[in-house]
Amino acid sequence: MNTFQMTAKTLFGLEEVLAEELKNIGAQDIELLRRAVSFRGDQEMMYKANYMLRTAVKVLKPIATFRVRNEIQLYKSIQDILWTDYLTIDHTFAVEATTNSEYFTHSKYAALKVKDAIVDQFRDIYGKRPDIDTRHPDLRINIHISDRQCTVSLDSSGTPLGKRGYRKRQTFAPLSEVLAAGMILLSKWDQKSNFLDPMCGSGTIPIEAALIAKNIPPGFMRDFGFEKWNDFDEALWDKVRKEADSQEKAFEGKIQGFDIERSAVNIAKGNARIAGVDDLIFFRNTDFMDATTEIEPGTIVMNPPYGERLKEEDEIIPFYQDIGSHLKHHYQGWDAWILSGNIRAIKFVGLKPSRRIHLFNGPMECKFHKFEMYRGSKKAVKNPDMTSPKDKS
Ligand SMILES: C[S@@+](CC[C@H](N)C(=O)[O-])C[C@H]1O[C@@H](n2cnc3c(N)ncnc32)[C@H](O)[C@@H]1O
Repeated sequence: MNTFQMTAKTLFGLEEVLAEELKNIGAQDIELLRRAVSFRGDQEMMYKANYMLRTAVKVLKPIATFRVRNEIQLYKSIQDILWTDYLTIDHTFAVEATTNSEYFTHSKYAALKVKDAIVDQFRDIYGKRPDIDTRHPDLRINIHISDRQCTVSLDSSGTPLGKRGYRKRQTFAPLSEVLAAGMILLSKWDQKSNFLDPMCGSGTIPIEAALIAKNIPPGFMRDFGFEKWNDFDEALWDKVRKEADSQEKAFEGKIQGFDIERSAVNIAKGNARIAGVDDLIFFRNTDFMDATTEIEPGTIVMNPPYGERLKEEDEIIPFYQDIGSHLKHHYQGWDAWILSGNIRAIKFVGLKPSRRIHLFNGPMECKFHKFEMYRGSKKAVKNPDMTSPKDKS
């Protein structure tokens, strides 16, 4: 078995969930990094990782590492790689660079140098060069420079893995599919009991929940970068897909999605249909503050407005207070998880969080808090911070 080291990139706060996913698919030598997890496996594992990981953004396969201190050294080291092993003149390519180094302060400039080195190598050999395509290249090359250490990788995913392919239409401020899946996995929902997103927008959270509940691979609708590689093994890829698809399971619970906007509910329904899970999700056009649910308690994961557009600052605090009060009075027995980028407003939910997790929604720092709505005498605990908010997380 020819194994190699790979890096799965993820979002801040999802590293442990991703490591768990990697363990579940049999990856070896799993190591947590910042916004990434490294692991070892063979080509089959690389195909599996792309097809099955819900919380990876991309899977990188390193092909060279070297030390560099300036752009001339970078250019020369890139030219030492025989690019015809990976690329032909008929292929398009793109270079993405991330730098964390005093020697390379502009990542775009480093990417440009790498591109020049590759193009010049082709010109020297063939008198012709492959074209650049930054949007849909055949090959994505990833450069990571940390201090003086440069790692050159091929991006086996191609289009980022968050782009599952079902979200054809979206409402304002949709969550990335990777973040939605990560929130559900972080919530430790048992994947059997009921699930609700009472402010579902384009439906990302309930759709990801349905895919998780049925164990449908997140990559089932899309293609991947490695399918265009020289060493692509179609029979192996077929085997990986068939094996993963055969692990689909039944789900007996109910998944619900509410939204106050009729247009959002229509968009969410359309997206769920494309994802093939519309039979599993019950969407309702309702104001959450008026909505009770007749189903047995389960898990709520929600992403209410943060106040940047939909609500003004003087409306957002009472809005979060209403969420807390409504949960407390009508959702006893449920575990409610709320993601918010409005760190002041989330304190006004007025209940004491039993877990506080730090996440990022794009560039925006967010809190992901768990509130347990006890049934009967053990009422949801009131948040002592509510009148004088002070962030303890
Ligand atoms: C930040 S967006 C959710 C985005 C969603 N997670 C997605 O991926 O598309 C918040 C949503 O809450 C909805 N909303 C706001 N107030 C609501 C209420 N009182 N009841 C139900 N939905 C509400 C908005 O219409 C909006 O679609």
